[in-house]
Amino acid sequence: MLLSEPIDQFQTDHLRKKGLLHPDEEILGSEKAGEGNMNVTLLVKTDKRTLVLKQSRPFVAKYPQVPAPQERTGIEFRYYQCLADNQVLEHYSPRVLGFDREHWILAMEYVEQGTDFLGIYQNPAMFTEELVEELLHYLKELHGLPKPDFPGNMAMRNLNQQHIFELPFQKENGFDLNAIQPGLEELSLLVKKDASLITKISSLGKRYLSPGNHLLHGDFYPGSWLNSPKGLKIIDTEFAFLGDPEFDLAILLAHLKMARVPETTVEQILQQYSLEKTLLAAFTGVEILRRLFGLAQLPLNLSLKEKETLAKHAIQLILHEQF
Ligand SMILES: Nc1ncnc2c1ncn2[C@@H]1O[C@H](COP(=O)(O)OP(=O)(O)OP(=O)(O)O)[C@@H](O)[C@H]1O
Ligand SMILES: [Mg+2]
Repeated sequence: MLLSEPIDQFQTDHLRKKGLLHPDEEILGSEKAGEGNMNVTLLVKTDKRTLVLKQSRPFVAKYPQVPAPQERTGIEFRYYQCLADNQVLEHYSPRVLGFDREHWILAMEYVEQGTDFLGIYQNPAMFTEELVEELLHYLKELHGLPKPDFPGNMAMRNLNQQHIFELPFQKENGFDLNAIQPGLEELSLLVKKDASLITKISSLGKRYLSPGNHLLHGDFYPGSWLNSPKGLKIIDTEFAFLGDPEFDLAILLAHLKMARVPETTVEQILQQYSLEKTLLAAFTGVEILRRLFGLAQLPLNLSLKEKETLAKHAIQLILHEQF
């Protein structure tokens, strides 16, 4: 059963049968829950409540010609299950309402008036002291969970490994960087021509794919943080896996640097959550470079010159492994 909009009678009956809707619950309307590429994520209004239904397909919803592992909503479901017994983490998660394992549909609480933090690149002041504290609180609790039984999520990790550690740095990758910003293609040669840097990045990719001992969110960037009247909620956990905590924190740090949040905040974070600095610096550098030169572009507010400075800083982070 494929979810689509508007949800028809056949789909409604199916959702009832799977327990994702109550037997006597009527759907009043549905719409896209928000911006997303990978999955079909719908906000569904019923006569009793509003909920979100997220369905994964064996391809990227927005680009059906691109295959993607279908089990990803199962990963998301399992992740929230692992967090459920921890009061802090439970508070930061949307409530899970059900899961249709046969059709990969996750039902969860709708976070009312939830807005993500993708505006941070235009307005770094969105990154308040309070937000820093909450994000670190979340990560520390998450990484501190006793090692759960968790799937390898290798198909999603292989996809990420390609997009984070390999493709952005290949010369003939087919990305039209000059269409994003004139001169960006030439700037990317800073990395593409540096064989030893590429070797180092590749080895970090292998580290990313190797087994770890801590549950990670796996995509801890401002698009996964929702601000709401009920507080901060962390969503979109389909890239979760057991790995190095440094990876999650590095993603956070990389995005702060791209948003030009003051370095004092970065230093404060490094003091408050003390992890292995060398790995942290290297992963941070890679995330910056792949966002500058890879397919998953961000609404960055940076001139070419500023991107050059940032890319050089990222390269230092990778090669010298220190902040
Ligand atoms: N539980 C929720 N409550 C409120 N809004 C939500 C909820 N889940 C998702 N959304 C909205 O829908 C958008 C897409 O959701 P999500 O990021 O989980 O989907 P996705 O298909 O995995 O996206 P992406 O392609 O970015 O990975 C979110 O950015 C958010 O705006
Ligand atoms: Mg997603």
